[in-house]
Amino acid sequence: MFRRLDQSLIVLLGLVSSLATAHTVITYPGWRGDNLVNNGTLENGEIPTGALGINYENGSYTFPFGMQWMYPCGGMPTSTNRTRWPVRGGAVSVQPGWFAGHKNAFFYINLGLGTEPLNYSLPMLPVFQIIGPSNEMYAGEFCLPQVPLPENVEVNVGDNATIQIIETAQHGAALYNCVDITFAEPEDVAEVTEENCHNSTDAGKEIDFSLVFATTSLESAAPALSIGMSVAMLPVIAAVMFGFLA
Ligand SMILES: *[C@@H]1O[C@H](CO)[C@@H](O)[C@H](O)[C@H]1NC(C)=O
Ligand SMILES: *[C@@H]1O[C@H](CO)[C@@H](O)[C@H](O)[C@H]1NC(C)=O
Ligand SMILES: *[C@@H]1O[C@H](CO)[C@@H](O)[C@H](O)[C@H]1NC(C)=O
Ligand SMILES: *[C@@H]1O[C@H](CO)[C@@H](O)[C@H](O)[C@H]1NC(C)=O
Ligand SMILES: *[C@@H]1O[C@H](CO)[C@@H](O)[C@H](O)[C@H]1NC(C)=O
Ligand SMILES: *[C@@H]1O[C@H](CO)[C@@H](O)[C@H](O)[C@H]1NC(C)=O
Repeated sequence: MFRRLDQSLIVLLGLVSSLATAHTVITYPGWRGDNLVNNGTLENGEIPTGALGINYENGSYTFPFGMQWMYPCGGMPTSTNRTRWPVRGGAVSVQPGWFAGHKNAFFYINLGLGTEPLNYSLPMLPVFQIIGPSNEMYAGEFCLPQVPLPENVEVNVGDNATIQIIETAQHGAALYNCVDITFAEPEDVAEVTEENCHNSTDAGKEIDFSLVFATTSLESAAPALSIGMSVAMLPVIAAVMFGFLA
């Protein structure tokens, strides 16, 4: 189960102890905090009998199946170290392969409005699929330089919100991860660089994209996902699964 990844990446992220159980990392614009925890398993690797997924024992929480499975934000409370993010939309970068089982995955990027969002029901992009280099853990990341605001949502500089990123693994289970933001003018936002936001192309890290839904969603997905898209559209089966066929 333990697999060694790229040393430089380990150093970069300082996640040495969490590697074996990691899921997604939001490289840009950050995240609420490290929710890659999945301790709570027994020393022999088994799940304790009757484990609820989240257990509270001797004054601390443990997550024998992993923390990121918990709606809405992978078990992390709202943070106060908010990231300034552009008021008309901006970059999002994710490392999707921090656990086995993510060769194919669906991604949802949603917005929750306010300092303590009541819900995360505002999609910023139509769901899209990634195709990773392998079904084992992999180190690649992807970068969407211009994720728009949800349709019909207008925000002002200084407003708070939370970006929620969901990755459903190929077996359908959903990982949750969030970053708390404050909307700002683009010039007041941390610069997006090749370092904090890029599409990995190195062998073993390359991630391909694919649209999921039928023609109606192609247009709205186009601005953020069009460049270099390999439109191997996930066909009918996905549409049926999500109830998009009449
Ligand atoms: C906020 O603080 C937590 C805890 O120190 C840290 O793990 C996280 O990366 C920070 N998030 C941002 C967006 O700076
Ligand atoms: C679980 O892991 C987290 C971080 O990896 C750590 O802070 C916590 O103390 C651990 N809990 C137990 C009971 O080992
Ligand atoms: C909690 O404390 C009890 C009694 O001291 C101990 O037997 C048990 O192993 C502890 N559990 C954890 C997860 O540390
Ligand atoms: C945004 O959130 C911060 C805490 O992270 C809070 O201090 C501030 O008042 C909030 N701003 C608004 C406009 O609610
Ligand atoms: C979601 O939250 C917003 C406020 O952020 C509220 O206006 C809207 O009614 C909520 N939607 C649902 C379905 O609860
Ligand atoms: C990464 O690839 C996606 C999909 O092809 C594309 O929309 C995006 O612009 C690329 N990111 C960068 C930084 O070029």
